[in-house]
Amino acid sequence: MSRTVYVNGEYLAEENAKISIFDRGFLMADGVYEVTSILDGKMLDFAGHLKRLARSLAELDMAAPETDEEIEAIHRELLRANDLTNGLIYMQVTRGAADRDFVFPVGVKSSLVLFTQTKDLANSAAADSGIKIISIPDIRWGRRDIKTIQLLAPSLGKMEAKAAGVDDAWLVEDDFVTEGTSNNAYIVKGGKIITRDLSHDILSGITRTAVLRFAREAQMEVVERPFTIEEAMDADEAFVTSATTFVTPVVEIDGQAVGTGTPGPIAKRLREIYLDESRNTGI
Ligand code: PDD
Repeated sequence: MSRTVYVNGEYLAEENAKISIFDRGFLMADGVYEVTSILDGKMLDFAGHLKRLARSLAELDMAAPETDEEIEAIHRELLRANDLTNGLIYMQVTRGAADRDFVFPVGVKSSLVLFTQTKDLANSAAADSGIKIISIPDIRWGRRDIKTIQLLAPSLGKMEAKAAGVDDAWLVEDDFVTEGTSNNAYIVKGGKIITRDLSHDILSGITRTAVLRFAREAQMEVVERPFTIEEAMDADEAFVTSATTFVTPVVEIDGQAVGTGTPGPIAKRLREIYLDESRNTGI
């Protein structure tokens, strides 16, 4: 069935939606995005996504396409028009359409595109069984804190994982894990939850912020520092977080079982807390 999507002020059937071939998102990956999960018809952590969008735009000197109120209204209209109860809303902002030039164009309006995808996020086989990952070099650019649409490196990483017969990859730079291809990475050792500290090297995940807050509220110890793949292989548990996977256990790294090789208690508990809290605080 055809979805209703949003493109630059208009709600259209997906087959009628058009973007200029001169759009700088298309030509130069000159754009940023957000993915908001939808659980039981509610948007999760929406304020966090708006805040990160504003930050990404500011870091790239890109104009906001609409006010926050209008962006929220568009999300709600797409939820309604597509009768979406579980899945996600993808939102992309680019610097707009102009003759191809490395220098930013002046006076061009940003492009804004949103669409929905249906997905049963709460009930996933990956969460039940855990995922297997490999480690690969992090070949991305130096500003991974900005959520840009240049996703070829993570896409190549996922393909490498697929070719190796596993689910995903963790990215390694100077011997330390930065993050997953499309998620933040964590290990648990002796009850401590260890995840890389925020910097230009990783994306500040909205799910990461929520999960670390819930962990601290539940009296779990959180340590924000880099860790190596060797340390991860020797950990009691490992897991990833993102808007679309919530908390998902990692049970194998580079062919070696993590802990017992089954989803660990801390990852399971954090997933439960995340789902409960999200059901209460979604808007
Ligand atoms: N990816 N790190 C990277 C590189 C990511 O692409 C993502 C999200 C995250 C987790 O961020 P959050 O918790 O805000 O979703 C971390 C999204 C889901 C995607 O590209 O589809």
